[in-house]
Order: sequence, then C-alpha cells, then structure tokens
Amino acid sequence: MFKRFRRLRLNENLRLMLEENYLSVNDLIYPLFVVDGKNVRNEISSMPGVFQLSIDEILKECKELERLGIKAIILFGVLEEAKKDSVGSDALNEEGLIARSLKEIKRAFPSLFVITDLCFCEYTDHGHCGIIDPIKQTVDNDLTLEISAKQALIHARAGADMIAPSGMMDGIVGTLRKALDEEGFENLPIMAYSSKFASAFYGPFRDVANSSPSYGDRRSYQMNFANGKEALLESLEDEKQGADLLMIKPALAYLDVIKDISNHSKLPLCVYNVSGEYALLKAGARLGVIDYERVLLETVMSFKRAGAKLIISYHAKEVANLLTKFA
Ligand code: PBG
Repeated sequence: MFKRFRRLRLNENLRLMLEENYLSVNDLIYPLFVVDGKNVRNEISSMPGVFQLSIDEILKECKELERLGIKAIILFGVLEEAKKDSVGSDALNEEGLIARSLKEIKRAFPSLFVITDLCFCEYTDHGHCGIIDPIKQTVDNDLTLEISAKQALIHARAGADMIAPSGMMDGIVGTLRKALDEEGFENLPIMAYSSKFASAFYGPFRDVANSSPSYGDRRSYQMNFANGKEALLESLEDEKQGADLLMIKPALAYLDVIKDISNHSKLPLCVYNVSGEYALLKAGARLGVIDYERVLLETVMSFKRAGAKLIISYHAKEVANLLTKFA
C-alpha cells in the first residue's frame, strides 16, 4: 500500500482549494531611487525597467503604484558626487535629498506607506555605510550609531512611515528605538535588516545607487554568506532590541535562512528580492531561455512558502499586473 497524493492534484478547483500559500498585492514593496533635478529618468543598464528618478518623476511613479494597488515603497537617495562627504552630511540635513523627497511624496500621496532605507553608503564619499575609523580603516560602529539616530529623526520628521536601517551596525535597532521614542515617534515602526549578507547579488544596486565602496568591501559589517545560525542570532537580537519586523536579504539564495527565522520568531518577516536576482531573471528573459512570467511567480511564491509576509522587489509592478492577469 502506498499513499495516492495525486488524488488531490487531478482537479484544477481542488488544486486551488488546497493551495497553501498566496501572493497578494498587499505583500509588495517597490524600491524607488530619487535623484536631484527635474524630468530625470535614467534607466540602469543591468536592471531594465529600473530608473533613477527626480522627484517629479517619482510622483508619477507613485500614481502608477496607487493604480496597481501597491501600498508601499522603500525610498533610496542617490546623491551627486559633489555633495558627498566623509560623514554623509546630506543624510543629516532637514533639507537633504531624502528629507525633501519624503515631504513631497507624503504631501501628494498621504496614504502611500513610505519606508526609508537608513544607511550612509549613498551619501559618503568613501561609499561605506558609516563613519570610517582612520586607524582601523573600517566603519566605526558606535560613532555610526550616533549619526544614524540623527538620520532616523530626519526621516521621521519628514514623514517616513517606517524606518529600515540597512548598515548592519550592532545596536542599531535599540539606538533608533530610543531616539525615536524620546522625540515622540514611539509609534513609528522599525524594520530591521537583521540578516543582511555581504552579497555579490547587490552588484547592480550599486550601479543605481552609486554606492560602491571606494576601497575594500563590506565584509566587516555585513554577514558571511556561509553562516545560517548567525542570521538567527542577529534576528533574535534585533527582536530583543525592539524591531517590529525582521528582514532577510538577499532572498533567493537564502530561503533556508528565511525558513529558519520564521520558525523561531513571531515577528512578521520581509525579504528583499535584490538587484542581482532581478538582473538575472531579466537577462534570462532577454536571452529567451526562461518563461519569464512563470519563473517570476514561482520565485516570489518561494519567499512566501519560506515564511515571508512582505516582499521588497523591483518586480513588484510586474507581479501586481500578473496577479490581476491570473486572478
Ligand atoms: C545599503 C543597501 C544596499 C542594498 C540596499 N540597501 C547595498 C549594499 O549593502 O551594498 C542592496 C539592494 C539591492 O541589491 O537591490 N544602503
């Protein structure tokens, strides 16, 4: 005797009835890259369909997201080189690129949920994620915490709906929670990039964000991709420090990590389907070697199956369209 699993697979309606995981447009978060200027729409060669946009163009994009039913964006600033310095001052300025953009987006789209990526690599001339210790030639953790708290308040005052610190500094979640609470932002959630690996999958992003380190790499603060248990430790520590959501990044090569964290934490999980993952699928489509739409849906569903609630993806608009197409 053996079990006949196929009994439950032979009928389309029954297959749908027994589907364990669902994708919803509510799960999607779309990344946007803002630059200074007007009418700017620079497409990134490795990421077809992804643009650096000036604020006026960002507003058009938000309108489109609203039409598609996408509820949230994560916003990145792409600063011109001349405005960068060793401590990323533009990110600490009430009139800086991100602060101005946030205010305009929230004014035009008050209900769009705007998440900010809190980091310094897009604003420093050396391209690292914080203040450099000149002797050790690596990012100084605790000094970076101090300026991160300042950056968080800039985002909060400009209208951010959630803050996502991505620099992988130890103690960042507790530091931001305290700073926000002290200034009356106790209801502003923090999404911790709790498991962010030092990954080659971020390559195309650094083209979009102009944020490659000018020397060295990020391995002294981002995680070693050989480690899974450490990701769990990082995540549980962020939970303890007061994170409201946890994030795992990249997504596709780290499904085991997502599953493990979802088995050990009750917090909602988000995954970041990063630039390199997007670029690979696009390249596959261009070469005609995959059925792009089906591979995309299968990929995104794998994040849900692994335990993610939310998905940050450059594919978000395409997925939203596919959901209506297949509904
Ligand atoms: C850092 C940051 C990075 C990404 C998001 N936030 C790059 C990095 O750590 O080098 C990568 C996202 C992607 O590859 O899509 N601010």
